[in-house]
Amino acid sequence: MKFFVDTAEIKDIRDLYETGLLDGVTTNPSLIAKSGRQFKDVIKEICSIVPGPVSAEVAATDYDGMIAEGHVLAKLAENVVVKLPLTIDGLKATKTFSKEGIKTNVTLCFSPNQALLAAKVGATYISPFIGRLDDINADGVELIENIRTIYDNYSFATEILAASIRTPNHITEVALAGADVATIPPAVIYKLADHPLTKSGLEQFVKDWKSTGQSIL
Ligand code: E4P
Repeated sequence: MKFFVDTAEIKDIRDLYETGLLDGVTTNPSLIAKSGRQFKDVIKEICSIVPGPVSAEVAATDYDGMIAEGHVLAKLAENVVVKLPLTIDGLKATKTFSKEGIKTNVTLCFSPNQALLAAKVGATYISPFIGRLDDINADGVELIENIRTIYDNYSFATEILAASIRTPNHITEVALAGADVATIPPAVIYKLADHPLTKSGLEQFVKDWKSTGQSIL
């Protein structure tokens, strides 16, 4: 499963890219607003750090506006993926970009039928929002399982990008469900490496090694 980081914070992106764990980046208008920076500057900077796919979301909600903005975003860097909302206009724009060879990420997906529509118009990625479904007492992971089954039934090439990830458990669950990618907040990526037995085991090894008085170098 590929790991994307869900942030517009440059320092977090740079640090995570250096770990070798990062395959791409997703942003959205809320994350851009939080960064307090100019949208296009942020996207260009992210693309200069991470060579993998970087999702940049359109602000327009009508077809013509999405097409105009998507073309601007796609020209910012070769690895930009145009992110579009799961509406009829967004799907129509996805079809147009797909024909033009521009990569797309269809966002705000909350049902298997929505994911089916995105695959039919040739979306590169579909983003089902796991955490926001869990928030309303629905089952986000079950949505990933259902989309996996539908896409496999028809051999759709659209990649399932599990989004709105909140916890390390979400990562295990979406990996078991067969998501192709997870886009994860930086803090959750770091938490994946934590285990109390790793911590206590390493402390003991360090202590015992010191007691030998030896040096490897
Ligand atoms: C996905 O592309 C979105 O940017 C993101 O995962 C939304 O997460 P949230 O529900 O925590 O805002």
